[in-house]
Amino acid sequence: MTPATQTAHKQFKASCGTPVESRPMTVPDFRAAKARGLRLTMLTAYDYTMARLLDAAGVDGILVGDSLGMVIQGKDNSLGVTLEEVIYHTRMVARGLKHSLLVADMPFMSFQVSPQQALENAGRLVKEGGAQAVKVEGGVRSAAAITAISAADIPVMGHIGLTPQSIHSLGGFRVQREEEQLMEDAQASEQAGAFAVVIECVPAELARKISHGLHIPTIGIGAGGGCDGQILVTHDMLGLFDDLRPRFVKQYADLGPNIMQAVETYCQEVREGIFPAAEHEFR
Ligand code: KIV
Repeated sequence: MTPATQTAHKQFKASCGTPVESRPMTVPDFRAAKARGLRLTMLTAYDYTMARLLDAAGVDGILVGDSLGMVIQGKDNSLGVTLEEVIYHTRMVARGLKHSLLVADMPFMSFQVSPQQALENAGRLVKEGGAQAVKVEGGVRSAAAITAISAADIPVMGHIGLTPQSIHSLGGFRVQREEEQLMEDAQASEQAGAFAVVIECVPAELARKISHGLHIPTIGIGAGGGCDGQILVTHDMLGLFDDLRPRFVKQYADLGPNIMQAVETYCQEVREGIFPAAEHEFR
C-alpha cells in the first residue's frame, strides 16, 4: 500500500469520528470504499477464536462460507452444508467481532426453490446467526432471490464465476471464461440489489472489466488485482488446509507444520514426564 493510500484508508475509516479499530464496518462503508478507490479485505471464519484474531487484525469483512464443508467438515465439496450449520457457525463468529462486517453464506438449496424460501432463510441467518449480510451464488439465475432478500433490507453479496454450488453442472473447479454470461451475471446481481459481488476464478482482465462496469464493489478470489477487494479462505492462506491447493492462493503463513511441531513436543514431554512441571501444579 502506498503512503497516500494508507492515509486515504485512515481518513475513510476515521470519517465517522471513532477510532478505526473500534468502528464496525457497514454495508455503506463497502459501497463507499469503491467510490473512493480503496481496496476491501475479506477472509473466511467459522469459529469465535479465529474470528477474534481476524477482526483484531483489521479485516474489513468476514464470510462464514459454505467452504466450511471442506475445511471444517472434511467433505469433498460444499453441497452438503445445511442452513442450520451455517447459522451455528455464524453465531460463534459473531461473538468474536467488533469491527468486521459479518456475511453468512446461503448454502445449497437454501435459496434456489423460491424467492420466498430465500427470504425466510436469509432472515434466519440474520435473526439466529447475527449476520449483517448474506451471500448468494449465481447472477441471472439468482436475481429473483437477491431482489426478495434485499427488498426486506437484508444486504446481499452476490457471487459469480466459479460458483462451487454448481460444481456438478460446471464439471469441476475450473476457471470461468464466458465473458457475456459473466457480464450478465454481474449486472443482474447489481440490478437485483446486491451491495457487492464475489468474482471467483475468472481471468484477471475480464474481472477488471466487470469491476469497471459496476457501481458496487467486486471481491475477487482467483480473479486478479483488478477487483475492488479480495477474499481468501483463511485455512488456505494460513497453511492449515492442503487437501486442495488452488493456484490463486497465496500462503501467508505455514501454521500446519507449526501445530504439528507443538503437538509432537507436547506428546514427547508428557511421555517423558517433563510436562506438567512444578509451575503447572496446584499446591
Ligand atoms: O464459501 C466460501 O468460503 C466462499 C469464498 C471462497 C468466496 O464462497
